[in-house]
Amino acid sequence: MAEVIGVAVVGMGWMGQAHSRAYLRVPDLFHDEGVVAHLAVVADPVPARRDEAVARFGFQRAVADWRDAISQPDVRIVVVSTPNAQHAEVAVAAARAGKHVFCEKPVGRTVTETQAIATAVREAGVQGGVGFNYRWAPMVQYAARLVADGHLGAITHYRSRFFSMYGSDPMSQLSWRFEQEAAGLGVLGDLMPHVADMARFLLGPIARVSATVETHITDRPLPVPGRGTHFTRGRPGDPTGPVTNEDDATVPVQFSSGVRGVLDTSRVIFGPKCEFGFEVYGTHGAVRWGFERMNELEVYLPDQEGDPARVAARDGFVRLTSSPDHAPHGRFNPAAATGLGYDDLKTIEAAAFLKRVTTGTGPGPTLEDAVAAARVAAAADRAASLGGWQEV
Ligand SMILES: NC(=O)c1ccc[n+]([C@@H]2O[C@H](COP(=O)([O-])OP(=O)(O)OC[C@H]3O[C@@H](n4cnc5c(N)ncnc54)[C@H](O)[C@@H]3O)[C@@H](O)[C@H]2O)c1
Repeated sequence: MAEVIGVAVVGMGWMGQAHSRAYLRVPDLFHDEGVVAHLAVVADPVPARRDEAVARFGFQRAVADWRDAISQPDVRIVVVSTPNAQHAEVAVAAARAGKHVFCEKPVGRTVTETQAIATAVREAGVQGGVGFNYRWAPMVQYAARLVADGHLGAITHYRSRFFSMYGSDPMSQLSWRFEQEAAGLGVLGDLMPHVADMARFLLGPIARVSATVETHITDRPLPVPGRGTHFTRGRPGDPTGPVTNEDDATVPVQFSSGVRGVLDTSRVIFGPKCEFGFEVYGTHGAVRWGFERMNELEVYLPDQEGDPARVAARDGFVRLTSSPDHAPHGRFNPAAATGLGYDDLKTIEAAAFLKRVTTGTGPGPTLEDAVAAARVAAAADRAASLGGWQEV
């Protein structure tokens, strides 16, 4: 008999819905793992969001106040998918109530807030997880193995970027993401945690950073609370408010290994929609991956032996496509190049967290990883104002 784990989802916006869908899909796609999630309760102050959650996902109960969700005895996991400003209060209280805590990135608005959540989880002896979902792409996992097993030789260069145009239109609403008080840092809090975590996942700790930041669009139309997302546009003549955090951050880094790299992020760039990618270069080979083509991996592993003419003909990047050879692709599709999408990464993430909750061990980014990513963002913020290199 599969163990049934009660889940509370706090915050039913884009991410709350993605997590709910993911937990519903686990019993099907990970049926052999012996865990089943039960959507016990949703908490959101907006009535329409609660009603929709019950109707669409079958939550058993819906409450306005998150305290009434984390206190329910059948809840064992609390998913925190509110705007960033509410994460710490909800996550710390959930841990102290003895619940396992899965918190969306960037976890805290600051290193201190992120650490407070990680400490509360550690002291309560519960499991903690964070939504660094891009790690779970089968071709990312494969790239990480190629790097770890030394196929690229000694690593020499790292390049990564997360370019999004969600804020490129000046009419994009002033959602909480654009406000320091509600979000913390701007693109350094929203996109950089994914980039910093991926860099650490592939190449290990980052020791120091320098940075430049810029805010391109300083005022935006005010949103209607509970309606729309940060992709929603206002109308000419709508009242506006000031943007209080940065739109772009370019961050040269040095890893503890000595390797140098660049982490580049923008939420206002015009063209790339969700271009999160990395390039790892070594003395014997290279890999390149990007989320917009997440089912592909470009690999450069030239064969140095043999007839020079034939070697030259093989001397280029090869494009691999995701297949059942790249776990867990085969759980979703038996066919090669029949690809996965964003929601599939959330499902893999949910299955891994359920496994960790039931067994006490297992892979997956922890809240300590979230603290490490927050330290990179905070060091970049310091470097942008003080100049020079800053220790992480
Ligand atoms: N891992 C990823 O790829 C990814 C992608 C998007 C967002 N996120 C993160 O997920 C979190 C949520 O982002 P989103 O885009 O879903 O936001 P959103 O604005 O779409 O939704 C937030 C929801 O939280 C609700 N809410 C606000 N205050 C609340 C409270 N006190 N209690 C309960 N609910 C409350 C709002 O009514 C809304 O329904 C953020 O931390 C964000 O950084 C992660």
